[in-house]
Amino acid sequence: KKICIFLMCVFTAFRSALNDFQRSEGRELVLKSWNVNRLTELPGITLEDCAKRCTESPECRAFSYEFRPSLVCKHLPWVGDRDNADVKRNVNCDLYEMKVYVRKCIVGKGEDYRGKVSTTKSGRTCQQWWSKFPHDHRWTPSATNGLELNYCRNPDGDPIGPWCYTTDPERRYESCDIPQCKDEVCITCNGEDYRGQVDHTVSGKECQRWDQQYPHQHIYQPEKYPDKSLDDNYCRNPDASPVPWCYTTAPTMERESCDIRKCREYFSESPKRRFRSSYTTNCFRGRGEDYRGKVNETTSGIPCQRWDAQKPHEHPFFPKTYECKGLEENYCRNPDGSEAPWCFTSLSEMRTALCLQIKRCADDIEAEGTVGAR
Ligand SMILES: *[C@@H]1O[C@H](CO)[C@@H](O)[C@H](O)[C@H]1NC(C)=O
Repeated sequence: KKICIFLMCVFTAFRSALNDFQRSEGRELVLKSWNVNRLTELPGITLEDCAKRCTESPECRAFSYEFRPSLVCKHLPWVGDRDNADVKRNVNCDLYEMKVYVRKCIVGKGEDYRGKVSTTKSGRTCQQWWSKFPHDHRWTPSATNGLELNYCRNPDGDPIGPWCYTTDPERRYESCDIPQCKDEVCITCNGEDYRGQVDHTVSGKECQRWDQQYPHQHIYQPEKYPDKSLDDNYCRNPDASPVPWCYTTAPTMERESCDIRKCREYFSESPKRRFRSSYTTNCFRGRGEDYRGKVNETTSGIPCQRWDAQKPHEHPFFPKTYECKGLEENYCRNPDGSEAPWCFTSLSEMRTALCLQIKRCADDIEAEGTVGAR
């Protein structure tokens, strides 16, 4: 038993209070004039402390953290939702909103769901939680149970998820059909463009925030990879792995993949319909990730190794694992975000080489100035 208590201490010590928040860089929340007295200013405290105190206060749903000219933590009773507060640009400030209030999907049974859906899956309007009409019930809204207005909630841990009493006298209660975060957005290919909100790994470990270096130190700092959308602690795929992944908050496991639904339509699509207009065959654009031509040797003329072979070089780029990367025959490709198309060579003493005899497309040379802005 002591070991259990000891382990729990170790694990929870690495969880940042910021994990409960979604960050918007360079933004602040400005309360409408009639609400300004509901803002709590806490000068001089750290970002972590600001987040922690917000989660502990039943009144706090978001905070602005001002870092210039001085540190000010501003606790707010609302998230940005137009009725009560507007999100404004402010380069001296970041906005952190509690995930459960801004997320449109649920994790698990959704007991912590605090969103604003107020209709059931059949389209019936929900009954206000403080009202006992048309349906009498035992629930009483409080500052901590989230039973607000007539929003769908799951106060009793219903396995189907958030529900409500309906305003239809014939129908006492009904589920609201709020999607699971892992099903909300599906992925094609290896999910490099996944921008959904799953923040747990396949074995259920909570993800580490990309903007933090603990418990695991890493190179994927969000500001260094702006096109990878390394938001909060959401699963992403910045390194061309087979599926989206994250660093975990468990000190014993550095990183793990995430369980995100694959798009069905994609698999039933014929190879022809999969053709993307951005593919090129005689030249390449950007880093050549969409090059699908038939050059099969390196810049210096060494024949390439076939992608479906593991000789002379063993490698992880199985054509089946990376089905959207065009790993056919022994053609030069760029499945991993290298600077240009490349291949494993047929010489055992030279593992990989670029295929720079493939030229850049003329329109790409002109567009050079805008690369990086995509
Ligand atoms: C490379 O491609 C050319 C033309 O398609 C083909 O004749 C040749 O056999 C290929 N070489 C290798 C090593 O696969």
